[in-house]
Formats: sequence, structure tokens, C-alpha cells
Amino acid sequence: MSSCTWTTSTRTPGASRTWCTPSPRTSPDPRPSFRHSVIPSRNRGPAMTVRVPLAELTTFVRDVLTECGLDDESARTAADVITYADANGFTTHGTNGLVNIYAPRLLDGRIDAGAAPRVVQETAGAALLDGDRGLGLVTMDLAMDIAMAKARQTGIGMVAVRNSTHFGSAGYYTQKAAAAGLIGIAMTNCGAQGVAPPLGGTVRMLGTNPLSAAVPVTEGAPFVLDMSTTVVATGKIKAAHREGQEVPQEWLVRHDGTPTSDPADFMAEEADVAWLGGPAATGGAKGFGLALLVDLLCGPLSGAAYGPRPGVLKGEPAGDDNVGHTAIVIDPSAFGSARAIAAENRILLDTVANSPAAAYATRGVTYPGAPEAQRYAQSQRDGVELPGPVAEGLAALAEQLTVTAPAALTGRSLQPAA
Ligand SMILES: NC(=O)c1ccc[n+]([C@@H]2O[C@H](COP(=O)([O-])OP(=O)(O)OC[C@H]3O[C@@H](n4cnc5c(N)ncnc54)[C@H](O)[C@@H]3O)[C@@H](O)[C@H]2O)c1
Repeated sequence: MSSCTWTTSTRTPGASRTWCTPSPRTSPDPRPSFRHSVIPSRNRGPAMTVRVPLAELTTFVRDVLTECGLDDESARTAADVITYADANGFTTHGTNGLVNIYAPRLLDGRIDAGAAPRVVQETAGAALLDGDRGLGLVTMDLAMDIAMAKARQTGIGMVAVRNSTHFGSAGYYTQKAAAAGLIGIAMTNCGAQGVAPPLGGTVRMLGTNPLSAAVPVTEGAPFVLDMSTTVVATGKIKAAHREGQEVPQEWLVRHDGTPTSDPADFMAEEADVAWLGGPAATGGAKGFGLALLVDLLCGPLSGAAYGPRPGVLKGEPAGDDNVGHTAIVIDPSAFGSARAIAAENRILLDTVANSPAAAYATRGVTYPGAPEAQRYAQSQRDGVELPGPVAEGLAALAEQLTVTAPAALTGRSLQPAA
């Protein structure tokens, strides 16, 4: 841990958190880079999965992160964020991230395990948080806590974060606000990565820039919209490629404008992931516009990196360091009785979910957050379903770090995906 000046701030009511302003580093640290690992394979057949009890998985992830150098509290927080994603069905952004991003980067130093995020500028309702190149999962959790505390004081709180790293599933942070009776909004850019070109463009210069919003209800599953601004998170395309599966052709567009269902076209950069809405004719400008909004609110506002900088047109290398996030929290009680508003939210969402389904909608009508709540209940009951390659990666990590893994991972019995 670097030497630092300590600051304490009130987080959620009844809790406080201390962070430090680190002394300036004496020399820049040229860290080795780690490439997101994708195992190319063309083995066709059903995807195989493993089920791991949620509590065991959470303890294991915490232990791995502790071995990677995180302090106990940070490891616990990050384990909650990671297993939230898996337990809610966002399997590209849970332990898959631990295997391919968080553990390797903590171990090679590209993510600083001893980071000390600090508020560098603050008003009653807003704060700028410098993540000190620490784990985004922990830094964004802190940002959300600060935004929640500010919202309780002023009605609305906003925290912009710079110098952070990958934060996983955006919905973790917003559902936390909703569980506390607050409206939560969370977003992240992907640093200066080039994952998708602008609508109609050819140069990949934007991230999948996810956005989440959650609204509290009196009981049952809250509204939790959690989405990339591209038609899907690219992790799903990479997973399909790894497993030799095709993807819906609405996901990918070749450079000549024709669709393709072969994820290899994406990997070879011969096709790009479509924006939410698809091509311009079906509303792709809306997904693209949302992605730009996320970059504008996560990049220039906080001083974080962002994709569409002039150098990208001259072939400047992309990178996903200095990622920016934004957390916004609104306290409904600034507008009336929080209980009455939450009860009306429940009625609104129930009306949607109970409305008649069209014949083609075999799963009926639902709302954002409800499918994940069901999946979470199933994960608690039957164990968390993990893709076979992720289970293998976790078992290898356990061996590398000599951490005891859940029996389900070591004596894997693979099942066809549900
Ligand atoms: N950290 C990063 O850099 C990054 C980048 C991209 C995505 N992500 C994360 O990846 C995850 C997956 O993103 P995605 O865009 O592939 O999500 P998705 O397509 O699986 O789900 C998007 C949303 O649609 C809702 N939904 C699904 N079916 C529905 C239905 N029938 N009716 C109503 N709502 C329905 C879900 O509740 C969810 O809120 C998210 O957790 C996201 O935050 C993270």
C-alpha cells in the first residue's frame, strides 16, 4: 500500500468509509499489458455448464481476490459484485471477468491492488472521485455509496469517476440504490478502447458503454434496466465464438452493411457489433446516441480516457486504462412520500407484467429486472450456473493461487446449459 493522507466520509447512513490521498509515485511503472483471453474453438455442440452454490462461490471469489492483494473489505465488495453478475445471469461479467481481467491484471500490477480512491473535488450534491487505478468494482461501489449519501442530504447526488478500471455489471450498483429505497443510475465507458465504430462509420472508437437504472418498489423485483448500448455485450459474441455457436444475425453487421451470424467475422474485424436498435432504419442512432452520452458523461466530465479522441483516426493504439464511471442517485422522498411512490411503481410494473402476451411471446410479458430476479432466486436455490470454460478458468486460478475451490469446480460434472 502506498503512503497516504487519510480522509473519512459518510457513506450510506450509519456507515463511513476512509480513503487516502496517495503520495505521488516517484517513477512511472511500466506494467506489462494483459490481453483479454479468448480461446478460439470451433467445437459445435451444446454449451456445457457447472452449478456452484452461491455462498461457496462468493467465498472462493473473495479468497482469490485476497490472494491477488486486495484488503478484506475490498475483496468482499468485489466478490459481491462479481457473483451478483453470475447469479443474475450476466455470465459474461462475473467470474469470467475474474479469470480474464481482474485476477491477471491485479497480479501483473495493471490494476493496483493497494489503490486508495480519493475525492478530489466536492459540492453538497456532487463529487469527483479519482480511482487511483484500483479495481473498478470497488471504486464504483464507493462512488455509489457517496452518491447515495449525497442524495439523502440534497435529494440528488452525482459522482463522476476517473482513473478507474472495468466495473463489471452496471446493475449491481443501481440495484443497491433501489434496495435502499433510492433511484440509481450507473454508467461506464470503456476507456480509450475501440470496440464499435460510430453509426455508419468504419473506425472502431467507442466502447459498449453500458447504462443501468433501477427504481425501488414496495416489494418484489424492482425495475433494473442493465444494458450495453450496443445490441449485446461483446462478451456474448466472444463466448459464442469460443463455443463454436452462431449468434443472431441482428447482432453483427459486415462492413458492406449485410448481417452475419458468424462470431468469427467479429473477431476478424470483418463485422462490427450493431448498436442497440440495429441499423439507422430501425433506430440504431438511439443506441449510438446513448453510447456517446455515456462517453461524454464518463470521459471529459471526470478527466477519464474516452474512445473518440483525434488520435484514434491516426491509428493511435486503444487502451482500457483510465476508465470513467458516473453514478447518479435520486431520493424519491424529495418529491413526496417515498413509500407511496414505491407502491405506485409496483402497480405500474405489475400492470405491464400482467398484460396479455402476444402469441409469439412464449415467455410472456415482463419488465427489466424481473428475469434477473427469477434467475437470482434459482441461483440461490440450485447453485449458480457457470459456463464450462469459466469453471475451468476458476479451477486453474485456484491451483495457481493455492486457494481452496468449491468442490463443484474441482470435481466438475458438466451439464448441458438450461
Ligand atoms: N463494464 C463494462 O465495460 C460493460 C460493458 C458492456 C456490458 N456490461 C454489462 O454486461 C451485462 C449484459 O449486458 P447486455 O446488454 O448484454 O444485457 P441483456 O441484453 O442481457 O439485458 C438487457 C436488459 O434487458 C432486460 N430484459 C431482458 N429480457 C427482457 C424482456 N423480455 N422484457 C423486458 N426486459 C428484458 C434485462 O432485464 C436487462 O435489464 C450487463 O450487466 C452490463 O452492465 C458491462
